[in-house]
Amino acid sequence: MKPLVTFIFGLTSFFIFVSLFTETVAEKDGVYIVYMGAAPKTKGSLRHDHAQLLSSLLKRNKNALVRSYKNGFSGFAARLSAEEAHSIAQRAGVVSVFPDPVLELHTTRSWDFLNYQTSVVIDSNPNPNSNSTSNDSGAIIGILDTGIWPESESFNDKAMGPIPSRWNGTCAKAQDFNTSNCNKKIIGARSYEDDETSVIKYQSPRDMVGHGTHVASTAAGSEVQGVSYYGLAEGTAKGGSPGSRIAMYRVCSPTGCRGSSILAAFDDAIADGVDVLSLSLGAPSFFKPEITDDPIALGAFHAVQHGITVVCSAGNDGPDPGTVVNAAPWIVTVAASTIDRAFESDVVLGDNTVIKGEGINFANIQKSPVYPIVYGKSAKKKDADVNDSRNCNTNSLDQELVKGKIVVCENLDKTYANDHMDEVKQLGGIGVVLIDYNSKGMASSFGTFPMTVISSEDGAKVLSYINSTKNPVATILRTTSPTKYTPAPIIAYFSSRGPSTIPENILKPDIAAPGVNILAAWMGNDTAEAPEGKDPPLYNLISGTSMACPHVSGIAATVKSKNPTWSPSAIRSAIMTTANQINNLKAPITTEKGVAATPYNFGAGEVSPTGPLQPGLVYETTAIDYLNFLCYHGYNITTIKTIANTIPDGFTCPKESSIDLISNINYPSIAITNFNEKAGRKVNRTLTNVAGDGNSVYAVTIDSPANLDVKVVPNKLQFTKNGDKSSYKVSFSAANPLKEDVFGSIAWSNGKYKVRSPFAVSSKRDN
Ligand SMILES: *[C@@H]1O[C@H](CO)[C@@H](O)[C@H](O)[C@H]1NC(C)=O
Ligand SMILES: *[C@@H]1O[C@H](CO)[C@@H](O)[C@H](O)[C@H]1NC(C)=O
Ligand SMILES: *[C@@H]1O[C@H](CO)[C@@H](O)[C@H](O)[C@H]1NC(C)=O
Ligand SMILES: *[C@@H]1O[C@H](CO)[C@@H](O)[C@H](O)[C@H]1NC(C)=O
Ligand SMILES: *[C@@H]1O[C@H](CO)[C@@H](O)[C@H](O)[C@H]1NC(C)=O
Ligand SMILES: *[C@@H]1O[C@H](CO)[C@@H](O)[C@H](O)[C@H]1NC(C)=O
Ligand SMILES: *[C@@H]1O[C@H](CO)[C@@H](O)[C@H](O)[C@H]1NC(C)=O
Ligand SMILES: *[C@@H]1O[C@H](CO)[C@@H](O)[C@H](O)[C@H]1NC(C)=O
Ligand SMILES: *[C@@H]1O[C@H](CO)[C@@H](O)[C@H](O)[C@H]1NC(C)=O
Repeated sequence: MKPLVTFIFGLTSFFIFVSLFTETVAEKDGVYIVYMGAAPKTKGSLRHDHAQLLSSLLKRNKNALVRSYKNGFSGFAARLSAEEAHSIAQRAGVVSVFPDPVLELHTTRSWDFLNYQTSVVIDSNPNPNSNSTSNDSGAIIGILDTGIWPESESFNDKAMGPIPSRWNGTCAKAQDFNTSNCNKKIIGARSYEDDETSVIKYQSPRDMVGHGTHVASTAAGSEVQGVSYYGLAEGTAKGGSPGSRIAMYRVCSPTGCRGSSILAAFDDAIADGVDVLSLSLGAPSFFKPEITDDPIALGAFHAVQHGITVVCSAGNDGPDPGTVVNAAPWIVTVAASTIDRAFESDVVLGDNTVIKGEGINFANIQKSPVYPIVYGKSAKKKDADVNDSRNCNTNSLDQELVKGKIVVCENLDKTYANDHMDEVKQLGGIGVVLIDYNSKGMASSFGTFPMTVISSEDGAKVLSYINSTKNPVATILRTTSPTKYTPAPIIAYFSSRGPSTIPENILKPDIAAPGVNILAAWMGNDTAEAPEGKDPPLYNLISGTSMACPHVSGIAATVKSKNPTWSPSAIRSAIMTTANQINNLKAPITTEKGVAATPYNFGAGEVSPTGPLQPGLVYETTAIDYLNFLCYHGYNITTIKTIANTIPDGFTCPKESSIDLISNINYPSIAITNFNEKAGRKVNRTLTNVAGDGNSVYAVTIDSPANLDVKVVPNKLQFTKNGDKSSYKVSFSAANPLKEDVFGSIAWSNGKYKVRSPFAVSSKRDN
């Protein structure tokens, strides 16, 4: 698939990053982010300092300062010429200077604001863990997104107690928004300047897109019964943590999400006192920013140092390997999986064969096969390219041959299913049967147009039926949404894959969660999204790692509210080590291709909604681990000091420093690259007892591939009280060179709790 093609090309000019380290020269005038690392202890005069630094360089423009960051870290955004940007980069205390990037939302659909077409749909929200009646006051989930539609029933505060007194945020008064739009559920709302390319300038936390409303209600929506998408997927909508609060930071306009706004929102959220931050957005995978030039990695670093768990979507650039983004070791990176609800729209052929199709349509044509059916290739317009007509692309079909017929189209160019609808519709065709070689498990939404998507195997059957008879006929049945679909989950084909290359030697993504056809709240006036003749949807079915991310944010919030003292890394460890690797057929979870998923597809596995509340043991990744990571990644102590918030007295980079040592930081999974079978590799890990009970012995179980020898020493760990720590060493060796990357797991169990870590070993250096 080719998501966001137009959009990405439109954006490339924003992604020419300038960095102090690479000495690249800024290429154009515009808004730059000047990142100055940690905020000094006294923050009062920071804005003044920034202005001074600026004015010492710029005599020309008093209004150059766009924004000053001061709470979590220090820096500012300013309007600069390329020359000025270059000059500021040389100043002491400046870590990096980079053009304000515009990032994208991680829905699967291109984000053209004239036609933001959300492919799909659905419900499920399988989060039985949350007790909306629970007495704890919940956690506060900050969401960086397109804003919120506060009138949605999902944001009612009927079951909510008083707002926690520690809350320090605000409900912005803005266009179409005021303090009466906040309540005990939505406790904060802020908004930031839209990017300069945005046609509509809208400075308000109100959602004009739907994405932010959807994400917020998935993370922490209140329980609402009897919701559906025009009768499909009917059920109860409920967020992952219905007891938690929502603080919306609107950083995205319909054209994208500005880096400077993202940094400003991190800065505000840290001061506001959120517990979890949820970001369903990121850079496109082809663009791999270094950590010093990546607003999400930088903002998240400081948020995590302030005890905030940061959860991000992995991106929608799968299934190609190496496409995962938001992969910094302090971030929880979420892949997307399907749920057990299908959206089935079948094709009935003239010989009464029923072919299973996927798609969401409210078609209202006859149920018996009375419509002529034709292959796009056979309806080729004179002079059109054959492949264009096979794909039913614009201007490729002959109206005479299409009018009044169902057309069989292909998806050779791997674009969105909806892209194959317009030509047929416009020429007066009755419907489309799309043969797709990729998008299994992902029903697209076609409104009232009879359209469905079938597999390539079934496509061959349809084409051979068409060939077999003089007057082939068919019909397309209206969508039904059966549940208990098997197998589920499967990893969504669009979900971005590991291995991670920036940084290397951290296994990413971390976890998978439902991200296909998720039914959640929507903006209330989206007439463009309504099928013909229907009111705008109050709940919408959409897909993406964007939808997976808030499932994990909700679970993280529940874990945090039950265990307020746990660090972000303890929460992440609990989420990862309790994940499932088995589907609803009790077989290994697979990818869209039907092969067993690897950690590059789903990290530790599919998130468990209840397991993370009681993990038994956790891997604490300490501030020192993250600092060592920065050393191993290649930054010197000067740079690290400016990036990091606090460096313990006397911290120096380890004498021995290499990228290989990143494998050794105390992460809940293990990734090794550059593996050499002669030398082997050793890593160590430390576990902390959080079971709350006393004396317990855990024994190890190793699941390793046949061509890799994995030893764990010791093979038993004893914990006598809560908070006890215990370490072990893992050694990897092999008799022969590894021909391809291999995977396995290490699990500790005391009979009550199982603490499992996946590993990946690769002989390649830069995957
Ligand atoms: C640290 O690294 C930066 C960027 O590579 C370089 O400019 C600087 O001179 C280095 N500092 C030291 C003390 O080596
Ligand atoms: C939800 O609440 C009920 C009743 O208090 C309790 O028995 C149950 O364990 C709770 N579930 C979770 C996941 O906390
Ligand atoms: C619920 O919270 C209130 C106020 O903090 C407390 O007095 C009460 O004991 C709690 N109830 C339960 C069942 O925990
Ligand atoms: C706030 O918005 C509500 C609903 O849009 C409106 O009824 C009310 O008058 C507004 N209040 C203020 C103070 O602007
Ligand atoms: C609360 O917000 C105010 C104003 O934004 C800020 O000065 C203060 O430091 C914040 N408090 C905390 C605990 O962060
Ligand atoms: C048409 O598509 C097929 C299958 O993707 C491809 O092999 C072939 O090269 C394409 N032909 C042209 C003319 O582009
Ligand atoms: C349909 O018939 C044509 C002509 O006989 C043949 O070239 C083509 O391969 C057939 N296609 C299928 C799918 O059977
Ligand atoms: C939806 O409401 C917003 C805020 O009131 C408004 O700006 C926008 O134009 C409305 N959209 C439609 C399609 O009516
Ligand atoms: C972990 O391994 C590294 C290098 O292999 C070593 O320097 C460090 O001391 C070890 N830590 C523990 C706790 O064993």
